[in-house]
Amino acid sequence: MAQEDLFKKLVAHCKEYGYVFPSSEIYDGLSAVYDYGQYGVELKNNIKKYWWDSMVLLNDNIVGIDSAIFMHPTIWKASGHVDAFNDPLIDNKDSKKRYRADVLIEEHLAKIEDKITKEVEKARERFGTAFDEKKFRETNPRVLANQVKIDELNARFSKALNDSNLVELKQIIIDNEIVDPVSGTRNWTDVRQFNLMFSTEMGSTAEGANKIYLRPETAQGIFVNFLNVQKTGRMKIPFGIAQIGKAFRNEIVARQFIFRMREFEQMEMQFFVQPGSDPEWFKIWKEKRMKWHQALGFGSENYRFHDHIKLAHYANAATDIEFKFPFGFKEVEGIHSRTDYDLKQHQQYSGKKMQYFDPEKGESYVPFVIETSIGVDRMFLQVISAAYFEEILKKEDGTTDTRVVLRLPSFLAPVKLAVMPLVKKDGLPEIAEKIVHDLKFDFNCQYDEKDSIGRRYRRQDAIGTPYCITIDHQTLDDQSVTIRYRDSMKQERVQLSQLKDIISEKVNIRTILKLL
Ligand code: GAP
Repeated sequence: MAQEDLFKKLVAHCKEYGYVFPSSEIYDGLSAVYDYGQYGVELKNNIKKYWWDSMVLLNDNIVGIDSAIFMHPTIWKASGHVDAFNDPLIDNKDSKKRYRADVLIEEHLAKIEDKITKEVEKARERFGTAFDEKKFRETNPRVLANQVKIDELNARFSKALNDSNLVELKQIIIDNEIVDPVSGTRNWTDVRQFNLMFSTEMGSTAEGANKIYLRPETAQGIFVNFLNVQKTGRMKIPFGIAQIGKAFRNEIVARQFIFRMREFEQMEMQFFVQPGSDPEWFKIWKEKRMKWHQALGFGSENYRFHDHIKLAHYANAATDIEFKFPFGFKEVEGIHSRTDYDLKQHQQYSGKKMQYFDPEKGESYVPFVIETSIGVDRMFLQVISAAYFEEILKKEDGTTDTRVVLRLPSFLAPVKLAVMPLVKKDGLPEIAEKIVHDLKFDFNCQYDEKDSIGRRYRRQDAIGTPYCITIDHQTLDDQSVTIRYRDSMKQERVQLSQLKDIISEKVNIRTILKLL
């Protein structure tokens, strides 16, 4: 199936099974804003717990906070967001559509990269096992010519971004004959800067209302509380502060479902270190974060690092962890070496010292910061795209059937166990209800008695429930039940008395935390 079709099906599946709904749908929706449904919120909470526990529970030098969304407006002046949190936008005069100039160029680069990949795949088919990919890439004239185009364009693009040269960005679009995907024309406006922060007013007009911003990142709430936490928690450097919370950005291009939203959630951790030790900690956090992603078992080949060509105004090094979504490799998490930029800026703008007294060195300094920053919603999309499978099953009569299954890691699944009476009589529903009542204190269980048992299994597969148990007449005789596994569809009989232990062990977050 084409990746584009797969993605459409995934979006439809999320809606049909109560994972994600478009916001304000009965009013035709609100662009790039989404609501999480009854299963979506459970998966989202489980993802947040995985992140929070891996930071705050497993590291005795990391603590969490929950700072307010509204903050003093000068914070955003100090952080550089008022002046520099911009995207370069360009409009097509025919379609009247607005685009990010940098994204148009990146997509053009990806198209050339695709041409190379197709060339390589064609050759692989032709030469079979004798195919030497490295040699082919180094010698094939078409591949080489495209690689030169990529390298030249990348160099020019990177310089234009670093110089914030908007005229040059437009020229790159013109020279590369990049067309509007909607109108197909090259009738472009000039490139302009567009600030991504939403603003509102606080206080009544009579008092003199103040313009304030909805935070575009949670990080600043951590920086301004750095000394509060350090002093009250008696934290010694190196230490970290973690936070999960909403962030808001007036994105120009809001596409690809929950990948780029205007209201979203971030999980950020700022790790305060001695100046000079930042390159070493940057490396450590890169590795730790990659391990966290790969522990989910979605295949290490689906992840890669991508170093930034344009560094944000606060960073001296930055890399993204990218995941292979159905629409290609894209950023899920950023790891940034933010130097002492933020603390120094707040020191200057607030007039309050943001220094740490190091008892071992016997001196005070402004610490350097390594940041790990991941979007909850993007992580959600990673999990659900990796878990979605359509399987063709052969039936006994020779015909086929399609099974849609979410192979979610058990500890992330919204419902861990579905309990089903085979029939709605003979006391079987009562036994099933009692099991749910007993086990619901330990994990999320669902009672399901509607439709045939086959349809019920399929419904649970589509939700991603890893275990189903069926109560039948044999249960009345010997207190055993059938347990059915989502991924293998295998079934086995177990004693009712063992059920809690069996499922608890399989769905416990401890198993994955121990891998980190
Ligand atoms: N404090 C640093 C910071 O905010 P960022 O790279 O702009 O860095 C970090 O954002 C992460 O937040 C991204 O890797 C992504 O997962 C998520 N994110 C950013 N903008 C988003 C958006 N519009 N919608 C959904 N997630 C977003």
